[in-house]
Amino acid sequence: MTEEIVVVPGDGIGKEVVPAAVSVLEAVGDFEFVEAEAGDAVKEETGEALPEETYELAASADATLFGAAGETAADVILPLRTAVDSFVNVRPAKAYPGVDALRPETDLVFLRENTEGVYSGHEDRLSEDLSTLTRVVTTSASERLAEFACDYVEDREYDGFSVAHKANVMRETDGRFRDAVVSVAEDRGVETDEVLMDAFATRVCLDPTQFDVVVCPNLAGDVLSDLAAGLVGGLGLLPSANIGPERALFEPVHGTAPDIAGEGVANPSATIVSAAMLLEYLGYDEEGEQVRDAVEGVLADGPRTPDLGGDASTEDVTNAVLERLD
Ligand code: NAI
Ligand code: MG
Repeated sequence: MTEEIVVVPGDGIGKEVVPAAVSVLEAVGDFEFVEAEAGDAVKEETGEALPEETYELAASADATLFGAAGETAADVILPLRTAVDSFVNVRPAKAYPGVDALRPETDLVFLRENTEGVYSGHEDRLSEDLSTLTRVVTTSASERLAEFACDYVEDREYDGFSVAHKANVMRETDGRFRDAVVSVAEDRGVETDEVLMDAFATRVCLDPTQFDVVVCPNLAGDVLSDLAAGLVGGLGLLPSANIGPERALFEPVHGTAPDIAGEGVANPSATIVSAAMLLEYLGYDEEGEQVRDAVEGVLADGPRTPDLGGDASTEDVTNAVLERLD
């Protein structure tokens, strides 16, 4: 069977790094690629940032590879995550040998709740002076995340996972989240430790080796994983996966990088490693590992794009990765 992969480059450097990742996927597997539009450019043309057709394709494909969208990012990525019914955002933050990093010993994976919390869209302007936000936390979504986290650490032979929360203040919402996650882990015999999310921010900067897999509510996972991006040397390196029960969407953490878009010098590593996560999701573990090794080798030995202090192009880096896959 040939899996169908929907490819949505989007805007800016998305149009440069996604084709790079597709060429890597073509080198290691036999997939059917279907290209679809989303973002600022298609909105200019048609009035819609996320055409119905793109949504439907993502909602029915085995996997989707997304680049980035510009000003319309929220109108594109939030519905695309819904299209795959993604309940967890997997964000590894790992420093690579040979790449300048604030904390070269960093090797973390954030498992971020992806559907609720303060990002569930319940904001109101009640008066000239007052706006409110309703924070949504359900036991069911927290348990679904916890089951995923247990599978994740068991498959990869971690000792357990950390739960970052602020249940000492948000007793009802984060209390529910913490209780649900810890209770599933207990039932599954998986060890957990708890850390308050503000204390986590300090501790991870001082010594990231204290943590491996970190399970977080939505906003905390967004902020803390971006903080970890700073520890490992930048946005051009961070992949992510939005996993649903039947399909998934993979994307670099970075945006459209308007300051370098069109110059052909974007670092394709984040998107190529996102493609490696896609391969592993589809069951191609060996191919996924080959791609990771190839990227790691190129990051260590060069060529490097300007964000990592080199003067190579996106194409040079991609070709170097492809050569290592031969
Ligand atoms: P950004 O991630 O696009 O860029 C931040 C900085 O990192 C820039 O200096 C950029 O050149 C650099 N950078 C990012 N990725 C890089 C790569 N692969 N290689 C080399 N350098 C790289 O974030 P920014 O500037 O805050 O946002 C720009 C646009 O992207 C905005 O319109 C924003 O809405 C959108 N955005 C979209 C996202 C998405 O579609 N998921 C996520 C974040 C931002
Ligand atoms: Mg973010």
